[in-house]
Amino acid sequence: MNLRQLFLQHVAQTSAAPLALEIVKAEGCNLTDASGKKYIDLIGGISVANVGHRHPKVVEAIKAQADAYLHLMVYGEFVQSPQVRYAKALTEHLPASLNSVYFTNSGAEAVEGAMKLAKRATGRTEIIAFKASYHGSTQGALSIIGDEYWRNAYRPLLPDVQHLVYNSFEDFERITERTACVIAETVQAEAGILSPQNNWLKALQDRCRYVGALFILDEIQAGFGRTGKLWGFEHFNVVPDVLLLGKALGGGLPLGAFIAEKILMNSLTENPVLGHITTFGGHPLCCAAGLAAFNALAEEKMFDAVGRKEMLFKNLLRHPKIKSINSFGLWMAVEFESFEECKKIIDACIEEGLLTDWFLFASHSLRISPPLTISEEQIRQACQIILRSCE
Ligand SMILES: Cc1ncc(COP(=O)(O)O)c(C=O)c1O
Repeated sequence: MNLRQLFLQHVAQTSAAPLALEIVKAEGCNLTDASGKKYIDLIGGISVANVGHRHPKVVEAIKAQADAYLHLMVYGEFVQSPQVRYAKALTEHLPASLNSVYFTNSGAEAVEGAMKLAKRATGRTEIIAFKASYHGSTQGALSIIGDEYWRNAYRPLLPDVQHLVYNSFEDFERITERTACVIAETVQAEAGILSPQNNWLKALQDRCRYVGALFILDEIQAGFGRTGKLWGFEHFNVVPDVLLLGKALGGGLPLGAFIAEKILMNSLTENPVLGHITTFGGHPLCCAAGLAAFNALAEEKMFDAVGRKEMLFKNLLRHPKIKSINSFGLWMAVEFESFEECKKIIDACIEEGLLTDWFLFASHSLRISPPLTISEEQIRQACQIILRSCE
């Protein structure tokens, strides 16, 4: 059997038609498959490769850390320099109230940790999330994602969860003194890049503060420069009580985090002690890689050009089949008439060497979330391929 057949045979499948590309090299914005064919990566592992694949400083940091030590001890017991230095760097770039970082293995685990924190800190149980939101695939995270199709098969899920309509002010009265936390994506990704309108996010924060519920923002896709600022919430004049990070946080290695004020985080330290534990969360290799990516992002000012590149995409992507483009930074949903039409265009793009896909709750839209380092030349090439694929 060849590698592809072995993949289908022995690697658990989550869809009947996986892409099954066999990539042998990834660099910057480019992928190369086993036959030598090159692809422009227009999705960056779904908003993971923000600084590009295998950024030289990330690779260097991984090698240096591998020479020093790998896993030593379960989370939170030893002073591990990559963890400490990354937590310091992150908190230096966040509002003063977000000064304590709990590193996890993934985004979903950050969501889980934050929900537990909210229950402990408030003594309440109700969790409020939003329709068409995505927060991960573990049972807690699944309980709060905003689509019945994905939730239904796994019931019973967490009790006392409500889903409100994103951007709707009318629903605010359902956030009450019973509510432990409200969890929202700063910009809803899988809904097809749906951004908050008319100061909705600020009003949501105010409502949470009024009833004493924690205001939690999921920036697992929105963070790390994707929106043109380091953090998505900076666009909206809000500061979350808990910030959720993942994806690009690890510079290509698995890493998530929930970040809150120290005094709030302390509710995980007693009664029971070890209120949230993980063996590998904040692995030194992942933190070293993440810190190197974070420094590269800042030093190379990668998010400065995001707005200009976004406009270039939008100016070039004009075609009768393109109904609209929702965008927020280098993060776009190109809308077509139907899933069938979108899928045909995606397949044609891949055939021509451009990797893209669709959105979980907006399957008629083509995803654009490339490394922030994508060049203008690559943007032009990518748009030509999309336009040709529309024909
Ligand atoms: C907005 C958002 N939250 C949470 C998650 C879950 O992250 P992970 O897949 O690392 O568990 C994702 C993953 O796609 C996401 O997009």
